[in-house]
Amino acid sequence: MSDFWSWWIIIIAVANIAGCWALLYWTRRMKDSESEDETTGHVYDGIQEYNNPLPKWWLNMFNICLVFSVVYLVLYPGLGNFPGLLGWTQEGQHKEEVAAAKATYAPLFAKYASTPIADLSKIKQATEMGKRIFVNTCFGCHGSDARGNPGYPNLTDNDWLYGGSPETIEQSILNGRRGMMPPFGAVFNAEQIDGLVQYVGRLSGHKVDSSKAAIGQTLFNQQCFVCHGANGKGNQALGAPNLTDNTWLYGGSATSIAETIRKGRNGVMPAHKDLLGTEKAHLVAAYVYSLSNQE
Ligand code: HEC
Ligand code: HEC
Repeated sequence: MSDFWSWWIIIIAVANIAGCWALLYWTRRMKDSESEDETTGHVYDGIQEYNNPLPKWWLNMFNICLVFSVVYLVLYPGLGNFPGLLGWTQEGQHKEEVAAAKATYAPLFAKYASTPIADLSKIKQATEMGKRIFVNTCFGCHGSDARGNPGYPNLTDNDWLYGGSPETIEQSILNGRRGMMPPFGAVFNAEQIDGLVQYVGRLSGHKVDSSKAAIGQTLFNQQCFVCHGANGKGNQALGAPNLTDNTWLYGGSATSIAETIRKGRNGVMPAHKDLLGTEKAHLVAAYVYSLSNQE
Protein backbone atom coordinates (compact mmCIF):
# COMPACT_ATOMS: atom_id res chain seq x y z
CA MET A 1 0.00 0.00 0.00
CA SER A 2 1.40 3.44 -0.86
CA ASP A 3 2.03 5.96 1.90
CA PHE A 4 -0.81 8.12 0.68
CA TRP A 5 -3.45 5.39 1.09
CA SER A 6 -1.91 4.26 4.35
CA TRP A 7 -2.32 7.76 5.82
CA TRP A 8 -5.74 8.05 4.24
CA ILE A 9 -6.88 5.00 6.20
CA ILE A 10 -5.11 6.05 9.41
CA ILE A 11 -6.63 9.54 9.38
CA ILE A 12 -10.17 8.34 8.63
CA ALA A 13 -10.01 5.58 11.28
CA VAL A 14 -8.59 7.84 13.99
CA ALA A 15 -10.98 10.68 13.10
CA ASN A 16 -13.91 8.25 13.38
CA ILE A 17 -12.91 7.03 16.81
CA ALA A 18 -12.19 10.56 18.03
CA GLY A 19 -15.49 11.71 16.55
CA CYS A 20 -17.44 9.03 18.39
CA TRP A 21 -15.79 9.99 21.63
CA ALA A 22 -16.51 13.66 21.08
CA LEU A 23 -20.13 12.80 20.43
CA LEU A 24 -20.36 10.80 23.65
CA TYR A 25 -18.71 13.56 25.62
CA TRP A 26 -21.04 16.12 24.17
CA THR A 27 -24.20 14.15 25.03
CA ARG A 28 -22.89 13.67 28.59
CA ARG A 29 -22.58 17.44 28.93
CA MET A 30 -26.16 17.89 27.84
CA LYS A 31 -27.25 15.95 30.89
CA ASP A 32 -25.82 18.73 33.09
CA SER A 33 -28.21 21.31 31.67
CA GLU A 34 -31.11 19.08 32.75
CA SER A 35 -32.06 21.41 35.60
CA GLU A 36 -33.28 24.28 33.41
CA ASP A 37 -35.79 22.49 31.17
CA GLU A 38 -36.34 18.74 30.78
CA THR A 39 -38.08 18.96 27.43
CA THR A 40 -36.66 19.82 24.06
CA GLY A 41 -39.62 22.04 23.37
CA HIS A 42 -41.07 19.73 20.69
CA VAL A 43 -44.73 18.97 21.27
CA TYR A 44 -46.94 17.02 18.91
CA ASP A 45 -50.50 15.86 19.60
CA GLY A 46 -49.89 16.71 23.25
CA ILE A 47 -46.79 14.51 23.42
CA GLN A 48 -43.69 16.27 24.71
CA GLU A 49 -40.19 15.23 23.71
CA TYR A 50 -37.96 14.95 26.75
CA ASN A 51 -34.24 15.53 26.67
CA ASN A 52 -33.25 12.49 28.77
CA PRO A 53 -29.65 11.30 28.95
CA LEU A 54 -28.74 8.01 27.26
CA PRO A 55 -28.97 4.99 29.60
CA LYS A 56 -25.75 4.30 31.54
CA TRP A 57 -25.32 0.70 30.33
CA TRP A 58 -25.60 1.83 26.74
CA LEU A 59 -22.98 4.53 27.21
CA ASN A 60 -20.65 2.07 28.90
CA MET A 61 -20.99 -0.44 26.06
CA PHE A 62 -20.13 2.33 23.68
CA ASN A 63 -17.08 3.27 25.75
CA ILE A 64 -15.91 -0.34 25.92
CA CYS A 65 -16.20 -0.64 22.14
CA LEU A 66 -14.11 2.45 21.64
CA VAL A 67 -11.43 1.33 24.08
CA PHE A 68 -11.39 -2.10 22.44
CA SER A 69 -10.94 -0.62 18.97
CA VAL A 70 -8.02 1.53 20.10
CA VAL A 71 -6.30 -1.39 21.84
CA TYR A 72 -6.91 -3.62 18.83
CA LEU A 73 -5.50 -1.10 16.38
CA VAL A 74 -2.40 -0.63 18.52
CA LEU A 75 -1.72 -4.39 18.84
CA TYR A 76 -2.83 -5.74 15.45
CA PRO A 77 -2.44 -4.54 11.85
CA GLY A 78 -5.34 -2.32 10.84
CA LEU A 79 -4.09 1.26 10.69
CA GLY A 80 -2.74 1.56 7.16
CA ASN A 81 0.80 0.17 6.98
CA PHE A 82 1.28 0.14 10.76
CA PRO A 83 2.00 -3.55 11.55
CA GLY A 84 0.74 -3.51 15.14
CA LEU A 85 2.90 -3.99 18.24
CA LEU A 86 2.38 -7.79 18.40
CA GLY A 87 3.78 -8.32 14.90
CA TRP A 88 0.90 -10.71 14.03
CA THR A 89 0.32 -11.44 10.32
CA GLN A 90 -2.05 -13.70 8.41
CA GLU A 91 0.88 -15.28 6.56
CA GLY A 92 2.74 -15.79 9.82
CA GLN A 93 -0.21 -17.55 11.41
CA HIS A 94 -0.69 -19.75 8.33
CA LYS A 95 3.03 -20.66 8.29
CA GLU A 96 2.93 -21.53 11.99
CA GLU A 97 -0.09 -23.79 11.48
CA VAL A 98 1.50 -25.50 8.48
CA ALA A 99 4.73 -26.00 10.42
CA ALA A 100 2.80 -27.44 13.37
CA ALA A 101 0.94 -29.85 11.07
CA LYS A 102 4.21 -30.90 9.42
CA ALA A 103 5.81 -31.52 12.79
CA THR A 104 2.85 -33.75 13.74
CA TYR A 105 2.56 -35.67 10.47
CA ALA A 106 6.09 -35.80 9.08
CA PRO A 107 7.20 -38.64 11.40
CA LEU A 108 3.99 -40.54 10.56
CA PHE A 109 4.48 -40.09 6.81
CA ALA A 110 8.10 -41.16 7.15
CA LYS A 111 7.18 -44.24 9.18
CA TYR A 112 4.46 -45.28 6.74
CA ALA A 113 6.61 -44.54 3.67
CA SER A 114 8.77 -47.54 4.51
CA THR A 115 5.85 -49.87 5.32
CA PRO A 116 4.73 -52.11 2.42
CA ILE A 117 1.32 -51.20 0.97
CA ALA A 118 -0.23 -54.59 1.75
CA ASP A 119 0.63 -54.11 5.45
CA LEU A 120 -0.42 -50.45 5.46
CA SER A 121 -3.82 -51.39 4.09
CA LYS A 122 -4.51 -53.19 7.38
CA ILE A 123 -3.55 -50.22 9.58
CA LYS A 124 -6.65 -48.16 10.26
CA GLN A 125 -4.83 -44.87 10.86
CA ALA A 126 -2.94 -45.24 7.57
CA THR A 127 -6.00 -46.02 5.45
CA GLU A 128 -7.86 -43.15 7.08
CA MET A 129 -5.07 -40.77 6.13
CA GLY A 130 -5.12 -42.28 2.63
CA LYS A 131 -8.87 -41.84 2.45
CA ARG A 132 -8.58 -38.15 3.32
CA ILE A 133 -6.05 -37.68 0.53
CA PHE A 134 -8.36 -39.60 -1.82
CA VAL A 135 -11.37 -37.46 -0.98
CA ASN A 136 -9.34 -34.30 -1.55
CA THR A 137 -7.56 -35.34 -4.73
CA CYS A 138 -9.28 -38.16 -6.55
CA PHE A 139 -13.00 -37.89 -5.90
CA GLY A 140 -13.65 -35.53 -8.85
CA CYS A 141 -13.00 -38.41 -11.22
CA HIS A 142 -13.38 -41.64 -9.25
CA GLY A 143 -16.22 -40.46 -6.97
CA SER A 144 -15.89 -39.91 -3.20
CA ASP A 145 -16.65 -43.61 -2.58
CA ALA A 146 -14.15 -44.64 -5.34
CA ARG A 147 -16.90 -46.43 -7.28
CA GLY A 148 -16.05 -44.49 -10.41
CA ASN A 149 -18.07 -42.86 -13.16
CA PRO A 150 -18.44 -43.64 -16.86
CA GLY A 151 -14.89 -43.40 -18.24
CA TYR A 152 -13.40 -43.37 -14.71
CA PRO A 153 -12.81 -46.84 -13.34
CA ASN A 154 -14.38 -48.21 -10.20
CA LEU A 155 -11.52 -48.83 -7.78
CA THR A 156 -13.47 -51.01 -5.35
CA ASP A 157 -14.45 -53.98 -7.52
CA ASN A 158 -11.10 -55.79 -7.81
CA ASP A 159 -11.40 -55.57 -11.59
CA TRP A 160 -8.34 -53.80 -12.94
CA LEU A 161 -7.38 -52.23 -16.24
CA TYR A 162 -3.69 -52.17 -15.34
CA GLY A 163 -3.53 -54.57 -12.43
CA GLY A 164 -4.35 -54.59 -8.75
CA SER A 165 -1.03 -55.47 -7.14
CA PRO A 166 0.19 -52.87 -4.64
CA GLU A 167 3.08 -51.89 -6.91
CA THR A 168 0.85 -51.48 -9.99
CA ILE A 169 -1.66 -49.36 -8.12
CA GLU A 170 1.15 -47.14 -6.84
CA GLN A 171 2.54 -46.84 -10.37
CA SER A 172 -0.91 -45.86 -11.72
CA ILE A 173 -1.06 -43.08 -9.13
CA LEU A 174 2.52 -41.82 -9.40
CA ASN A 175 2.98 -41.90 -13.17
CA GLY A 176 -0.58 -41.79 -14.45
CA ARG A 177 -2.11 -43.96 -17.20
CA ARG A 178 -3.31 -43.34 -20.73
CA GLY A 179 -5.74 -45.75 -22.38
CA MET A 180 -5.29 -46.08 -26.15
CA MET A 181 -8.28 -47.59 -27.85
CA PRO A 182 -7.91 -46.58 -31.53
CA PRO A 183 -10.94 -45.39 -33.55
CA PHE A 184 -12.22 -47.89 -36.14
CA GLY A 185 -14.90 -45.73 -37.72
CA ALA A 186 -12.84 -45.34 -40.90
CA VAL A 187 -11.78 -49.01 -40.97
CA PHE A 188 -15.17 -50.76 -40.83
CA ASN A 189 -18.53 -50.19 -42.46
CA ALA A 190 -21.76 -50.03 -40.44
CA GLU A 191 -22.48 -53.76 -40.88
CA GLN A 192 -19.03 -54.74 -39.66
CA ILE A 193 -19.28 -52.43 -36.66
CA ASP A 194 -22.67 -53.90 -35.82
CA GLY A 195 -21.14 -57.37 -36.04
CA LEU A 196 -18.40 -56.36 -33.61
CA VAL A 197 -20.97 -54.85 -31.23
CA GLN A 198 -22.90 -58.14 -31.25
CA TYR A 199 -19.75 -60.17 -30.71
CA VAL A 200 -18.48 -57.97 -27.86
CA GLY A 201 -21.95 -58.19 -26.30
CA ARG A 202 -21.89 -61.97 -26.55
CA LEU A 203 -18.50 -62.09 -24.81
CA SER A 204 -20.22 -60.60 -21.76
CA GLY A 205 -23.21 -62.91 -22.03
CA HIS A 206 -25.67 -60.48 -23.64
CA LYS A 207 -28.38 -61.91 -25.92
CA VAL A 208 -27.27 -61.14 -29.47
CA ASP A 209 -27.89 -61.94 -33.14
CA SER A 210 -25.55 -64.89 -33.71
CA SER A 211 -25.09 -64.53 -37.47
CA LYS A 212 -23.99 -60.91 -36.98
CA ALA A 213 -21.81 -61.94 -34.05
CA ALA A 214 -20.08 -64.47 -36.32
CA ILE A 215 -19.04 -61.64 -38.66
CA GLY A 216 -17.82 -59.73 -35.60
CA GLN A 217 -15.82 -62.65 -34.29
CA THR A 218 -13.80 -62.92 -37.51
CA LEU A 219 -13.02 -59.20 -37.47
CA PHE A 220 -12.21 -59.31 -33.76
CA ASN A 221 -9.66 -62.03 -34.32
CA GLN A 222 -8.03 -59.92 -37.02
CA GLN A 223 -8.06 -56.47 -35.47
CA CYS A 224 -8.84 -56.51 -31.80
CA PHE A 225 -7.07 -59.53 -30.37
CA VAL A 226 -3.66 -57.74 -30.41
CA CYS A 227 -4.80 -55.70 -27.45
CA HIS A 228 -7.86 -57.43 -25.99
CA GLY A 229 -6.53 -60.96 -26.47
CA ALA A 230 -7.95 -63.69 -28.72
CA ASN A 231 -10.58 -64.61 -26.11
CA GLY A 232 -11.29 -60.95 -25.20
CA LYS A 233 -9.90 -61.23 -21.69
CA GLY A 234 -7.87 -58.04 -22.07
CA ASN A 235 -4.27 -57.13 -21.46
CA GLN A 236 -3.20 -55.28 -18.34
CA ALA A 237 0.13 -54.24 -19.82
CA LEU A 238 -1.83 -52.07 -22.27
CA GLY A 239 -4.78 -51.25 -20.04
CA ALA A 240 -7.02 -53.02 -22.57
CA PRO A 241 -10.13 -54.00 -20.61
CA ASN A 242 -11.40 -57.52 -20.20
CA LEU A 243 -14.46 -57.61 -22.48
CA THR A 244 -15.91 -60.81 -21.04
CA ASP A 245 -16.79 -59.77 -17.47
CA ASN A 246 -19.76 -57.48 -18.12
CA THR A 247 -17.96 -54.72 -16.19
CA TRP A 248 -17.80 -51.63 -18.35
CA LEU A 249 -15.65 -48.57 -18.28
CA TYR A 250 -17.71 -46.72 -20.86
CA GLY A 251 -20.98 -48.60 -20.72
CA GLY A 252 -22.17 -51.94 -22.07
CA SER A 253 -25.17 -50.85 -24.12
CA ALA A 254 -25.00 -51.49 -27.88
CA THR A 255 -24.82 -47.71 -28.42
CA SER A 256 -21.85 -47.23 -26.06
CA ILE A 257 -19.97 -50.20 -27.49
CA ALA A 258 -20.57 -48.97 -31.05
CA GLU A 259 -19.35 -45.51 -30.08
CA THR A 260 -16.22 -46.96 -28.47
CA ILE A 261 -15.42 -48.91 -31.63
CA ARG A 262 -16.19 -46.04 -34.01
CA LYS A 263 -14.51 -43.17 -32.17
CA GLY A 264 -11.97 -44.91 -29.95
CA ARG A 265 -11.39 -44.03 -26.28
CA ASN A 266 -8.51 -42.31 -24.56
CA GLY A 267 -8.99 -42.32 -20.81
CA VAL A 268 -6.34 -40.27 -19.03
CA MET A 269 -5.28 -40.81 -15.45
CA PRO A 270 -3.01 -37.84 -14.62
CA ALA A 271 0.35 -38.48 -12.93
CA HIS A 272 0.20 -37.51 -9.26
CA LYS A 273 3.90 -37.75 -8.38
CA ASP A 274 4.46 -33.99 -8.27
CA LEU A 275 1.09 -33.10 -6.81
CA LEU A 276 1.16 -35.55 -3.88
CA GLY A 277 4.78 -36.55 -3.45
CA THR A 278 5.74 -40.18 -2.95
CA GLU A 279 4.77 -40.43 0.74
CA LYS A 280 1.17 -39.34 0.26
CA ALA A 281 0.89 -41.39 -2.95
CA HIS A 282 2.01 -44.40 -0.90
CA LEU A 283 -0.76 -43.81 1.66
CA VAL A 284 -3.48 -43.29 -0.93
CA ALA A 285 -2.30 -46.43 -2.75
CA ALA A 286 -2.75 -48.33 0.51
CA TYR A 287 -6.27 -46.95 0.82
CA VAL A 288 -7.13 -47.96 -2.77
CA TYR A 289 -5.63 -51.41 -2.18
CA SER A 290 -7.67 -51.81 1.01
CA LEU A 291 -10.92 -51.19 -0.90
CA SER A 292 -10.75 -54.47 -2.79
CA ASN A 293 -8.64 -56.46 -0.35
CA GLN A 294 -10.64 -56.57 2.83
CA GLU A 295 -10.69 -59.63 5.02
C1 HEC B 1 -8.73 -36.28 -13.96
C2 HEC B 1 -9.39 -37.48 -13.51
C3 HEC B 1 -8.67 -38.39 -12.55
C4 HEC B 1 -8.14 -38.10 -11.32
C5 HEC B 1 -8.06 -36.76 -10.62
C6 HEC B 1 -7.65 -39.33 -10.80
N1 HEC B 1 -7.87 -40.34 -11.68
FE1 HEC B 1 -7.33 -42.27 -11.43
N2 HEC B 1 -7.95 -42.67 -13.31
C7 HEC B 1 -8.60 -41.80 -14.16
C8 HEC B 1 -8.90 -42.46 -15.41
C9 HEC B 1 -9.62 -41.87 -16.60
C10 HEC B 1 -8.38 -43.77 -15.30
C11 HEC B 1 -8.44 -44.85 -16.36
C12 HEC B 1 -7.35 -44.62 -17.36
C13 HEC B 1 -7.61 -45.39 -18.61
O1 HEC B 1 -8.76 -45.34 -19.10
O2 HEC B 1 -6.70 -46.04 -19.08
C14 HEC B 1 -7.80 -43.87 -13.97
C15 HEC B 1 -7.18 -45.01 -13.47
C16 HEC B 1 -6.76 -45.17 -12.17
C17 HEC B 1 -6.21 -46.37 -11.62
C18 HEC B 1 -5.99 -47.67 -12.38
C19 HEC B 1 -7.25 -48.48 -12.27
C20 HEC B 1 -7.13 -49.85 -12.90
O3 HEC B 1 -8.21 -50.43 -13.11
O4 HEC B 1 -6.03 -50.32 -13.18
C21 HEC B 1 -5.96 -46.14 -10.30
C22 HEC B 1 -5.41 -47.13 -9.28
C23 HEC B 1 -6.35 -44.77 -10.03
N3 HEC B 1 -6.81 -44.21 -11.19
C24 HEC B 1 -6.25 -44.18 -8.80
C25 HEC B 1 -6.41 -42.80 -8.61
C26 HEC B 1 -6.10 -42.14 -7.38
C27 HEC B 1 -5.67 -42.81 -6.09
C28 HEC B 1 -6.30 -40.81 -7.61
C29 HEC B 1 -6.08 -39.65 -6.64
C30 HEC B 1 -4.74 -39.55 -6.11
C31 HEC B 1 -6.76 -40.66 -8.97
N4 HEC B 1 -6.80 -41.90 -9.54
C32 HEC B 1 -7.07 -39.46 -9.54
C33 HEC B 1 -8.91 -40.50 -13.89
C34 HEC B 1 -8.49 -39.81 -12.76
C1 HEC C 1 -4.23 -50.78 -29.62
C2 HEC C 1 -4.94 -51.63 -28.68
C3 HEC C 1 -6.42 -51.83 -28.92
C4 HEC C 1 -7.04 -52.32 -30.03
C5 HEC C 1 -6.41 -52.74 -31.36
C6 HEC C 1 -8.44 -52.40 -29.70
N1 HEC C 1 -8.67 -51.95 -28.45
FE1 HEC C 1 -10.45 -51.78 -27.51
N2 HEC C 1 -9.57 -50.86 -25.98
C7 HEC C 1 -8.21 -50.67 -25.84
C8 HEC C 1 -7.97 -49.93 -24.65
C9 HEC C 1 -6.61 -49.51 -24.11
C10 HEC C 1 -9.23 -49.65 -24.09
C11 HEC C 1 -9.52 -48.84 -22.84
C12 HEC C 1 -9.58 -47.38 -23.25
C13 HEC C 1 -9.47 -46.45 -22.07
O1 HEC C 1 -9.03 -46.87 -21.01
O2 HEC C 1 -9.87 -45.28 -22.23
C14 HEC C 1 -10.21 -50.26 -24.95
C15 HEC C 1 -11.57 -50.24 -24.72
C16 HEC C 1 -12.49 -50.96 -25.46
C17 HEC C 1 -13.88 -51.07 -25.13
C18 HEC C 1 -14.58 -50.43 -23.95
C19 HEC C 1 -14.71 -51.40 -22.80
C20 HEC C 1 -15.45 -50.85 -21.62
O3 HEC C 1 -15.28 -51.45 -20.55
O4 HEC C 1 -16.20 -49.87 -21.73
C21 HEC C 1 -14.45 -51.85 -26.09
C22 HEC C 1 -15.90 -52.27 -26.18
C23 HEC C 1 -13.40 -52.21 -27.00
N3 HEC C 1 -12.21 -51.65 -26.59
C24 HEC C 1 -13.59 -52.99 -28.11
C25 HEC C 1 -12.62 -53.16 -29.09
C26 HEC C 1 -12.86 -53.79 -30.37
C27 HEC C 1 -14.18 -54.37 -30.81
C28 HEC C 1 -11.70 -53.72 -31.05
C29 HEC C 1 -11.41 -54.19 -32.47
C30 HEC C 1 -12.18 -53.57 -33.46
C31 HEC C 1 -10.72 -53.09 -30.20
N4 HEC C 1 -11.31 -52.75 -29.03
C32 HEC C 1 -9.41 -52.87 -30.56
C33 HEC C 1 -7.22 -51.09 -26.68
C34 HEC C 1 -7.45 -51.59 -27.94
